[in-house]
Amino acid sequence: MTATLVPSQQILTPQLEIAGGRRLAGELRVSGAKNSALVLMAASLLTTEQLRLRNVPPLTDIGGMADILISLGVATSHNGDTLEMDGSGLSQSSPPYELVNSLRASFFCIGPLLARLGIARVPLPGGCQIGTRPVVEHVKGLKALGAQVTIEHGVVSAVVPGRSHRLRGGRIHLDCPSVGATETLMMAAALAEGETVIENAALEPEVVDLAGLLLAMGAKVRGAGTPTITIVGVERLHGADYAVIPDRIEAGTFLLAAAITRSCLTVAPVVTDHLGAVLTKLEEVGCRLEIDGTNVTISADTIQAVDLRTQPFPGFPTDLQAPFMSLLATANGNSVVTENIFENRLQHVAELQRMGAAIRTQGNTAFIEGVPRLSGAPVQGSDLRASAAMVLAGLAADGITTVQGLEYLDRGYADFEGKLNAVGASIRRLG
Ligand code: EPU
Repeated sequence: MTATLVPSQQILTPQLEIAGGRRLAGELRVSGAKNSALVLMAASLLTTEQLRLRNVPPLTDIGGMADILISLGVATSHNGDTLEMDGSGLSQSSPPYELVNSLRASFFCIGPLLARLGIARVPLPGGCQIGTRPVVEHVKGLKALGAQVTIEHGVVSAVVPGRSHRLRGGRIHLDCPSVGATETLMMAAALAEGETVIENAALEPEVVDLAGLLLAMGAKVRGAGTPTITIVGVERLHGADYAVIPDRIEAGTFLLAAAITRSCLTVAPVVTDHLGAVLTKLEEVGCRLEIDGTNVTISADTIQAVDLRTQPFPGFPTDLQAPFMSLLATANGNSVVTENIFENRLQHVAELQRMGAAIRTQGNTAFIEGVPRLSGAPVQGSDLRASAAMVLAGLAADGITTVQGLEYLDRGYADFEGKLNAVGASIRRLG
């Protein structure tokens, strides 16, 4: 038997080809927040009435969450950036492993499923490129609300004992302010009997957005955006029509695209309170910012080194650490970046080094010596934000950069290259 060899250039992995060194100019529009939309979609499990979400970004992760909801019996339809979900036909309490495994946020369905049906069996999502990503806090909180939870064969099984199958309010203290645990427990508590207090809750804007939706559905929630959230459970929630907040991480990535290309761009809509730490760092490196309502105009020429540490909100967000490091790789002077949220989120360093960046790491800290120019090279994004960081580096580099790892990029950035090309970038999608 003879095997046919296929010339390697015919097996083209999807990639972006970036011709670097161009100045950008114009306005970039920010889509709805992925990490908000995913959780707001899960809230459709809490009601038999229709939930309409507007400003939902067209992303593969959103499609993945819709598939999970459909597998549970929720009818979904979308028109442009509007998504309608009807949970009246909810019939399943157990989403399939293949769907949950590919989308961590889908685990957050366990809270609303348990609240509505009194039973949920959700596969553990497992780790991902950036870390092990445990769900201990989610499970601990559900137990505090009266659920019996067992973990066997990779599946978390939760059931509410008693005839009413209704969770009961309780006091929960999170050991770390996990965004996902806070959201899961808010949704679970919304239909529980009595009052729930979540202490050391996450402060992220996506948590506040979820509270906004739950209030619109008739829930009694107060304190979202502070470390103590109080929820008084109601017997049922109704439908709602709700707009997702703008994506603060996409906005930050666009501001960094201007900074790394030493350009002037307007980014909108931006809720500046959601990006305080990032805007401050951009000013510290020498960018000029003009804020007019939800329009942020940024201009950059020389960039100075700066140190930064990722922190829970309102600190500097881990999701912008890799994109900001691409900028610092081109700064005047030495910067130190410390990743405090995820244990394995410096994988982009090796790829930036391939482009001529001078970076060394020790544990979770990167020491960056700015260089005058990066040089284009084939690189690989190891997760969503690392892929975006590679594209930013490619925009600034001499020559051609090819970025693989688009399966990550497309999870979180809607038409990334289309938006950047409209302001003067030269990016082609191949394969
Ligand atoms: N953690 C625990 N125990 C738990 C839960 C979390 O130790 O039970 C730890 C994690 O290991 C991590 C830290 O707490 O070290 C933060 O995790 P968190 O639970 O807050 O993160 P998440 O809810 O899983 C969301 C976003 C992430 C974002 C983080 C932090 C969604 C779907 N994802 O994840 O977004 O990085 O919050 O802000 O909302 C991305 O968009 O690229 C992304 C990874």
